[in-house]
Amino acid sequence: MTDEQELAEAQRRHWQRTYAANPGMYGERPSAPAVHAAAAFRAAGARKVLELGAGHGRDALYFAREGFTVQADDFSPTGLEQLRDAAHAQGVAGEVTTAVHDVRDSLPLPDTSVDAVFAHMLLCMALSTKEIHATVAEIRRVLRPGGTFVYTVRHTGDAHHGAGTGHGDGIWEHGGFAVHFFDRALVDALADGWDLDEVHAFEEGDLPRRLWRVTQTLPR
Ligand SMILES: C[S@@+](CC[C@H](N)C(=O)[O-])C[C@H]1O[C@@H](n2cnc3c(N)ncnc32)[C@H](O)[C@@H]1O
Repeated sequence: MTDEQELAEAQRRHWQRTYAANPGMYGERPSAPAVHAAAAFRAAGARKVLELGAGHGRDALYFAREGFTVQADDFSPTGLEQLRDAAHAQGVAGEVTTAVHDVRDSLPLPDTSVDAVFAHMLLCMALSTKEIHATVAEIRRVLRPGGTFVYTVRHTGDAHHGAGTGHGDGIWEHGGFAVHFFDRALVDALADGWDLDEVHAFEEGDLPRRLWRVTQTLPR
């Protein structure tokens, strides 16, 4: 196994343990970026949303309650099990499908099959720059022309950037969580061939995590 594969496998185990020990850890309310994304998706006429790194589903379930059909993916079966239980409890199980999927693998979806993609704090996980580019290329493949992609990432202005164990390529591990801190050049590079609609700075949580919310659209 390469160092990259070992880190990825350790992270998957860490997320599994974290969700098992802290069910529903992000709470039931949607994140602020999900509320923003739902409005953007609706304005663009989207119906089918793909969420990557959905975790236990605070945002996927919100999209379903807002009338979208949602495919929620994550590499943690434990997080997705909590998501499915909550979907049943909230009466939206018919609108949500889940798939255990590591974004370093190709997306198990046909070309141009979704209207919108959402990924809150997924691209800034323990992914190399090359893997992040490959993930965005896959998102581009499954998104329909004119489709919207909203993602958030922690950036180099975050308090944990440069703290803890450095794994190289912008990745730092703190408290067991490895994060790829984005710089603006990476955001711009990922928007190549897209329309970059917005890069919005915001904070979440007590640390606080410092993030960018990026909205980019595929040309028609
Ligand atoms: C910071 S959490 C955010 C969860 C969710 N988006 C939310 O905000 O409630 C990151 C999520 O990405 C998932 N994840 C990390 N690396 C992944 C990978 N390589 N493939 C798929 N999911 C991954 C984790 O299991 C975790 O659920």
